[in-house]
Amino acid sequence: MANSREYPIGIFDSGVGGLTVARRVMEQMPNESVVYFGDTARAPYGVHSKETITAYSMDIMRYLTAKPLKMVIIACNTICVSSYYELAEAFNVPLFEIVSCAAEECVIGVPREGANVGVIATEATVRSGGYLIELLKRHPFLNIIQKPCPDLVTFAEKGFTHSVAARQKCAEYLRDMKEAGIERLVMGCTHFPLYADIFAEYLGGNVKLIDPAVASAAKVKGAIREAGLENPGPPKREFYITGDTDTFERVAGNLLGMEIKAERVTL
Ligand code: DGL
Repeated sequence: MANSREYPIGIFDSGVGGLTVARRVMEQMPNESVVYFGDTARAPYGVHSKETITAYSMDIMRYLTAKPLKMVIIACNTICVSSYYELAEAFNVPLFEIVSCAAEECVIGVPREGANVGVIATEATVRSGGYLIELLKRHPFLNIIQKPCPDLVTFAEKGFTHSVAARQKCAEYLRDMKEAGIERLVMGCTHFPLYADIFAEYLGGNVKLIDPAVASAAKVKGAIREAGLENPGPPKREFYITGDTDTFERVAGNLLGMEIKAERVTL
């Protein structure tokens, strides 16, 4: 871990989704400074090949690591499953991925005979099999149903998560899982916790929703504490994006409950 208590935590995503991780980081570590990067001009990433996702995320990492950072959280499941090893090899900064944390959280309390688990994610994440590997490694008797839900990324990037069309899409995407009687739903894309209330309403209160951000923030907190790198404060927050600042500032402001000023940059 880079050796200064005051250094911020870098957090990045293809777009606004990583804010669901930033929110938990800020809640659990209110003194830590955060530098957020969203490649909003090139989102969504989940429709691209592994090679393109890796090239795009390398660009973000080059930008972020030009700043002094304590560590970097890849707040994007798609980038974690597609490019984690390439990024870890290319950059000399502590790098944290969120997929294994979500898998760990998901299997807690599952009985020995298994459970029906749904995983919703991007096309690239589903195709990679990353969640299947991480979940089955921890519990071989899970019955996993995966579903790519690309339109939910698009609605979220525009700030339309609770539109009629978005609600209809949620129901359409989750119908098979509901019929199969899933007991847990992994929201395997950082944009998806923005729909958590809609998922809960559609699936019913007995389905446990797994938000990778919650377990990830707890793990990051533990790592920072163990390294003795807790920031005494006060915290700073910086937001960099590649697209339109108005939409981002509105979505981020609503989610984080504070006024957000974002700087538009070119990669
Ligand atoms: N938020 C991202 C994830 O967690 C990817 C969304 C996208 O750009 O397709 O997978």
